[in-house]
Formats: sequence, C-alpha cells, structure tokens
Amino acid sequence: MRKVISVVSGKGGVGKTATTSNLALALQEMGEKVIAIDCDIAGSNLALHLDLHPNPERSLQSALEGTKNAIEAITLHSTGLMVMPSRHAIKDEIMDYEKFKKILDRLDGIVLIDAPPGLNENLHTIIDLSDEVIVVTNPEIPAVADAIKIVEVVKKKKGNIENCWCVLAKANEVKHQLNEGEIEMALEIPIVSKIPYDKDLKRSIFERVPVIRYNPYSLSAIEYRKLAAWLINQNYEPPKYASIARFLGKIRGR
Ligand SMILES: Nc1ncnc2c1ncn2[C@@H]1O[C@H](COP(=O)(O)OP(=O)(O)O)[C@@H](O)[C@H]1O
Ligand SMILES: [Mg+2]
Repeated sequence: MRKVISVVSGKGGVGKTATTSNLALALQEMGEKVIAIDCDIAGSNLALHLDLHPNPERSLQSALEGTKNAIEAITLHSTGLMVMPSRHAIKDEIMDYEKFKKILDRLDGIVLIDAPPGLNENLHTIIDLSDEVIVVTNPEIPAVADAIKIVEVVKKKKGNIENCWCVLAKANEVKHQLNEGEIEMALEIPIVSKIPYDKDLKRSIFERVPVIRYNPYSLSAIEYRKLAAWLINQNYEPPKYASIARFLGKIRGR
C-alpha cells in the first residue's frame, strides 16, 4: 500500500523541510516504511537537513530523466530513512506529470513530499497526486494569507478539504501574531500540530541532524512525534521526565 502525503506552504521558509525530515523519521521510528522526496527543485535543501551530498547522483531528476529508475534514485540515509533528494539547480524545472506519477507508482509505504513554496506548476502536480496534504504555516499574516490560496487550490482540485490539515510551525506565544482560532477560521482546515519555535531545532539544522535525533526530548521533537502518531492513528505517550532531560541537555551544552 502506498500513501502520498505532501508538505506544502504558500510562503517559503515556514518550516516545510524541517517538518518533512522530522516527520519522516518519526514515522519510521513508529514502524512505517517512509520515503521522503525533495520536490522543491529550485530551493532543494532536504539533503542539507539530512547531511547528504548537496548535489547527489541519485536524485529526483535522475528518475524524471530516466537515467535511474525510481528505486535507483533513492539514497539510504544513515538512519535507514529512504530519501530521493533533489539535485542542485539554479532554476525551477517543471516535473512532467506522467513521469512523476510513474515514479510514485513504483514506491510503497508512506511517501512524504517536501513541496516547493507557492503555486507553481509542480505544486499543482504534487497536490493532484497526493492523498493527504499538510499545509505548513507560521502564525503571521503573510504566511497565513499565502496558505489560504493553497487550501483553495486543494479544495478546487479534490472537491473537498477532508484530507488537508494545517501544521502551525514556529508557533510562539508572542504579541502581534494570529491565534489558533483565527488561523483555523481563515484556512477552514484544522490545526493538527503546533510545532513551537525551538532553538534546538535551529541548532539541529546547523548540525544537519534532524531534531528528533539531535535532541529527542526537545519540544519540537515531541510535537513531531505526536503529529506522526496522529497521522497513522497510533497512540503516543511523550517521554516521562522530558523536561528534566531537556534541562540536563541544556547544562551539557545542547
Ligand atoms: N520549529 C522551529 N523553530 C525554530 N526555527 C525553525 C523552526 N522550523 C523552522 N525553523 C527555521 O526556519 C528555517 C526555514 O525552515 P525550513 O524547514 O527550511 O523551511 P521551508 O522548507 O518551508 O523553506 C530553518 O532554517 C530554521 O532556522
Ligand atoms: Mg524547504
């Protein structure tokens, strides 16, 4: 069985790639077979988040061009996660719908797509081929305004927004931000996960180790696990004494 879940956003820089890498690892920890594909061709950085070669030979492009088949285009990350990274590109390339569909058809398990921001042609292809859509946004007006357009596209294409959810990333309780109620009302989809603004996540990107491995007790890591469990209908009990572990991590320099 294969399920395609795309991680999309209107605005760039909201936390799609952090969500893709951490959610993929969290799902894998829970026993799922996961393949993460970097479809943000012009802004590809899933490989950077995972400390893979920035211009890999096994890539989405090699599968689209046919120099590799879908399976050969997959790289095995040190965690065992399967990744189809994107090649270094200085301009956007349009993915051929049929070729991309063929790639997806060769895969099984959960296919997590790190999508490009905005509404380019590739985003339309990705939404058409997705079973579920995760719209990542931040609690700021420009990010939410752009997310509204994505939800509109999903509604138009699928006829409903039943399998479309919001992940609110970099959520911090400061003034001059939209609250959850306002965001849900604007987007017309539920917020299923609130990933806090987390310094550990920023550090983990610098270290190129996804935060759920870099600091499994960090607030963002726990929220990513909760999201993974919700997606696959599993129960997840956050680790006991996580706050103590976080505190100990801090005094040890993390
Ligand atoms: N939960 C978070 N807490 C703190 N910083 C974050 C969080 N999520 C993302 N970031 C920061 O935002 C930047 C952009 O995140 P990224 O996942 O690359 O966004 P996108 O893929 O949407 O462009 C990261 O480099 C990181 O510094
Ligand atoms: Mg990205």
